[in-house]
Amino acid sequence: MNDVNIVVVGSINMDLVIFTNRFPNKGETIIGEEFHRIPGGKGANQAVAAKRLGANVDIIGCIGDDIYGKEVIGILDNEDIGTECISIIPNKNTGIALITVNKHGENKIILSQGANSNLSPTQIRNSEHLIKKANVLLLQLEIPIESIVESVKIAKRHNIPVILNPAPAIKLEPALLEQIDYLIPNETESKQLVGKDFGDTEEIIDTLKEIGVSHTIVTLGEKGVVFNDQTGKIIHIDAHKVKAIDTTGAGDAFNAAFGVSIAEGKTITESIHFAQTVAAYSVTKSGAQPSFPNRSEVTGKRNN
Ligand code: RIB
Repeated sequence: MNDVNIVVVGSINMDLVIFTNRFPNKGETIIGEEFHRIPGGKGANQAVAAKRLGANVDIIGCIGDDIYGKEVIGILDNEDIGTECISIIPNKNTGIALITVNKHGENKIILSQGANSNLSPTQIRNSEHLIKKANVLLLQLEIPIESIVESVKIAKRHNIPVILNPAPAIKLEPALLEQIDYLIPNETESKQLVGKDFGDTEEIIDTLKEIGVSHTIVTLGEKGVVFNDQTGKIIHIDAHKVKAIDTTGAGDAFNAAFGVSIAEGKTITESIHFAQTVAAYSVTKSGAQPSFPNRSEVTGKRNN
């Protein structure tokens, strides 16, 4: 394992989570089970997951000047993640995600972006000193798209590989897509990316390749992963079979682990195997950040 630097540009949230036997129907009130307040946000989750896997990690993001902001930045500091480029936005709430998780470990999430919507291209430019020393830049879409564009521009100027997890999904411009080295959508997100109807995952990967995305890695949950390798061949890898308790943050665990492994110089296929192991571990525990393993907990497991 090498000492690698990961920079995450992304959201920092507090997750308000209710576990429930089943999701309510439209217009229905049901009595759920326990409630938990858990630090989250796709950006912060990826930062925590990458740090626990042994990388040096910095995060660029925004929190509100509220009680949740103090709590989430304290947690990032405790994890020893670099927080010097987090801005505290006056009179704004920290991002809040309302999450329900059913007995199958499936979730439904609504995000109030709060301070995450204040992450500006100027803040990204002011953080260039961090981005340029990264081995890999990790991005997701819970922050303004202009800041994603600026982050990619800076990363490319310094030849830093960019991993984009396009969640929550929106249609993305080809001018942005063509600069992404590794695009990691889930099945639903992959269909929304280029705003066109597709027959199957292979067609999506081929279309994105034509646009200029070097590698698209589509995560299919319990059906595994489909991606194009460095030779252009489309490959399917089965998922690990585990009993899911809570799938919240599994995508973040996958992206972070993939990024750490690529930063360590592993191949795309090796990195996907590692990412699958880490994501499979995470779904066997509740919550996003509390479910992410330390490196020692996933070393020596299948394909590592
Ligand atoms: O990917 C899971 C995350 O999505 C949660 O932690 C929640 O904050 C939402 O951003």
